[in-house]
Amino acid sequence: MNDEIFAKLCANRKYGDVHPDAIRRAVEDARRRYRKPKDVEKAARERLHGITSAFNGLRGADSVDDLEALLALHASTRERLPLARMDSLYRRVFEITGAPESVLDLACGLNPLYLLRRCGCRVTGVDLSRSCVELLSREPGFTGVWGDLLSEETIPSGRFHIALLFKALPLLERQKAGSAMEIMRRIDAADLIVSFPTRTLGGRGVGMERGYSEWMESHIPANRAVAARFTDENELFYILKEI
Ligand SMILES: C[S@@+](CC[C@H](N)C(=O)[O-])C[C@H]1O[C@@H](n2cnc3c(N)ncnc32)[C@H](O)[C@@H]1O
Repeated sequence: MNDEIFAKLCANRKYGDVHPDAIRRAVEDARRRYRKPKDVEKAARERLHGITSAFNGLRGADSVDDLEALLALHASTRERLPLARMDSLYRRVFEITGAPESVLDLACGLNPLYLLRRCGCRVTGVDLSRSCVELLSREPGFTGVWGDLLSEETIPSGRFHIALLFKALPLLERQKAGSAMEIMRRIDAADLIVSFPTRTLGGRGVGMERGYSEWMESHIPANRAVAARFTDENELFYILKEI
């Protein structure tokens, strides 16, 4: 039954962009909770919708070159625009980390575009979305991995100056409890910058900042300490330095 549902979801245009490992995992998790195929499929679709709702593929992106227009194609980067705001956000981060040469951006969305074009960094990015990784891969300085961060081998090895996990940990934790800590532990970078949304895309934010602060402060990896914590519009940031 799992194989049939898996094949059906892979063939669905809505999920064609999502890495098959994540589709397989959504089906297997749903299978543990439900017996009837109809219920398994429904639960797997709901999970995949939650993962992919930030943007629905990047149709038409090939003909766009303007940086701001490209960043607006993904809900997470759109929220950080205009570019002047992103400039001041990254200035604030780089004052603490130093200007990075190499960046690892996990569950990256389109964020690497800013770092590649505006800061001249080399960026290695991982995302579940094939169109996202393909679009980034046409940029010089980008190394892309189309993959599921919950699969053991997906986190690129090697040392990076900074690593980013922007608005990703709550999503990953929802996909697999305990995965956020495991992923942070595997990152080899002098500074790890983690962010959380303080409002939903619909604009509600009651208690989100407090909830995510409490979560972060009780989940600091053993090899890191908080170098800075700040909020910027709808986002809470932690800079975690290696100790
Ligand atoms: C909320 S968006 C944040 C994007 C980017 N970090 C930013 O803040 O601009 C979450 C991103 O994580 C990706 N994603 C979700 N689950 C993932 C997983 N298991 N492995 C890899 N990427 C994942 C989604 O495709 C999406 O681009």
